[in-house]
Amino acid sequence: MKKPAIVYSNVWEDPELNRVSLNVQPGDSVLSITSGGCNSLCLLLENPSKVVSIDFNPAQIALLEFKKAAISLLDYDDFLGVLGVEFYNKPTKHTPEKRIQLYKSFRDKLPGEARSFWDENESIIGSGVFMSGKVEKFFALYRWILGKLYNYDDIEKLFFQPDLESQWKYYRSIKIKRWRFLNRSLLNRFVLSLVKGGHSFAQVEDPDLSENLNRKIDRAMKNLYNPDNFFMALMLLGKHFKPESMSPYLLEKNYPLLKKNIDRLETYYGILTDVLKKYGPSSFDRLNLSNIFEWMDNSTFNGVIREAIALSKPRARLAYRYTLARPRELDSSNLEKLQYEPELSKKLFNQDRAFIYESFHAFQLK
Ligand SMILES: C[S@@+](CC[C@H](N)C(=O)[O-])C[C@H]1O[C@@H](n2cnc3c(N)ncnc32)[C@H](O)[C@@H]1O
Repeated sequence: MKKPAIVYSNVWEDPELNRVSLNVQPGDSVLSITSGGCNSLCLLLENPSKVVSIDFNPAQIALLEFKKAAISLLDYDDFLGVLGVEFYNKPTKHTPEKRIQLYKSFRDKLPGEARSFWDENESIIGSGVFMSGKVEKFFALYRWILGKLYNYDDIEKLFFQPDLESQWKYYRSIKIKRWRFLNRSLLNRFVLSLVKGGHSFAQVEDPDLSENLNRKIDRAMKNLYNPDNFFMALMLLGKHFKPESMSPYLLEKNYPLLKKNIDRLETYYGILTDVLKKYGPSSFDRLNLSNIFEWMDNSTFNGVIREAIALSKPRARLAYRYTLARPRELDSSNLEKLQYEPELSKKLFNQDRAFIYESFHAFQLK
């Protein structure tokens, strides 16, 4: 059997969209897709009674358990240090040996499967788990080639423009044809299928993925100020640009609350069908479904939505998104139960800092 591997060491989805659309209330129970664990951790900051974070890839669960144990037991500097979170132009204090030593300080607190995973993958801890997923390594390759096509200083200047207008002007002034060439060579269906698995693109109709992503990068350069966009910094610099611009669960000001609530996080290896068996119907107030529907055909999609509805309490809120695929259609029995919120969805989509997405969808159970 193939050994589980981390695909996403970060969630490349804007947590602000979940915060606003799900509008978690104190005491709510939340179901959340794990991926890199970031957004499940961000939802803990809303003071729910619990967040059940699920994933069908055990490596993603092991990653979130690692983050959870680090939050429980380490101070803020060591938390960022053990993850290998880095900042532009700031050398990190934590050596690979120090990271492994910190891991050993909380290793015994990990559940058995997560402990075995990390014992087998200690080298990942040494080099920093934060940018260790297949997707993050792909971005490292992307950056490396970008550095060959350009003088890297020219890319870094994208983070030093005084305002959005200058940023857009500057972006248009660098030799954009080279960047387009890179996107054609790397951001195409063949290469992306190797990174994310071919199934991810089963429902994608756009014949030209690189042109699709060119449009999205252009839109981000035009509308989102890079120094404040940690997604752009992680993609182009491979690190955060500044300490104030990170996912909320990584911010120092939020660390005491995160630590206080961390025991309200449960991880669960499985899919919604398993969650329904374990937790029973009507057990969640809020559901963050990430982009799990990306590859599903309409009938599978509607089946999973039925499970999500079964898991939901009355008036529950749900959110999901698509990266490249067109949205699937809700069938009549699902439509009867779910109220779509088109204006909120569109407004949030337009402010999405994780600029690669095609659409965002917020619903409330009727
Ligand atoms: C849907 S993927 C998308 C990742 C996200 N867009 C990002 O950029 O971080 C997120 C995670 O969901 C998991 N996943 C996908 N479909 C799932 C399902 N039906 N049930 C549970 N986990 C699922 C994958 O293993 C992956 O770790």
